[in-house]
Amino acid sequence: MEVIVMDNAFEISKAVSSIIIDEVKKNPKAVLGFATGASPVETYKRMIEAYKDGKVSFKDVTTFNLDEYCGLEREDENSYFYFMKDNLFGKTDVDFEKVNFLSGDEAQSEKNCREYEEKIAAAGGIDIQLLGIGTNGHIGFNEPSESFSDGPFKVKLTQSTIDSNSKYFKDKKMPGYALTMGIGDIMRAKKIILIATGESKANAVFKMVKGEVTPSCPASVLQNHGDAVIYLDKESAKLL
Ligand code: F6R
Repeated sequence: MEVIVMDNAFEISKAVSSIIIDEVKKNPKAVLGFATGASPVETYKRMIEAYKDGKVSFKDVTTFNLDEYCGLEREDENSYFYFMKDNLFGKTDVDFEKVNFLSGDEAQSEKNCREYEEKIAAAGGIDIQLLGIGTNGHIGFNEPSESFSDGPFKVKLTQSTIDSNSKYFKDKKMPGYALTMGIGDIMRAKKIILIATGESKANAVFKMVKGEVTPSCPASVLQNHGDAVIYLDKESAKLL
């Protein structure tokens, strides 16, 4: 695990977007794993700028997102699909045919999880997986638990996650369940980039980087990945 501390979120977004853009230039058919939430938004802005400046095309990339809330339609503006459309895909030439998402359709969740794992394998695995970290140490929606998950699964969200994310739900109650890629799926990515900013992440960052590898802090598993790079601002790194 490599840890890089930068001045602010803007500097991080420049560094992370150039890694992704360089990968896509080298391999236009790259398989990219994306996260939602506040942490990657600046990076997505830099990617959109690079696309608009004619520096890169994303038309041949395949994408997989980490997670989706149960019970939300894609068109629901609270869904993570909508978030990605709004913050990246719809503002670049990403081909929606190559966009993969866990579905919010609860009745189909087991089938969806199985098929998602098969699709990741059929795409040849994920080249770069982007991650954020929850204040409780979650990655994707792998909440603290007693064992590390492997493939995608349905998860009951913890109160800490509900407290952090409820603010995004203006017109309805936040779902209590989500589908998420498992820790195994994340760890099989060839390269992992995690972004954390702000003081509220300092404790989770400390446990991820300096703590023991334990499913009670799921992000700590990244210590065992051969190519995981953690980008922090000064506030999130303050306990290291
Ligand atoms: C979202 C996801 C989550 C977030 C984490 C941090 O797809 O997988 O693990 O990355 O909850 O969220 P923010 O970036 O909003 O602080």
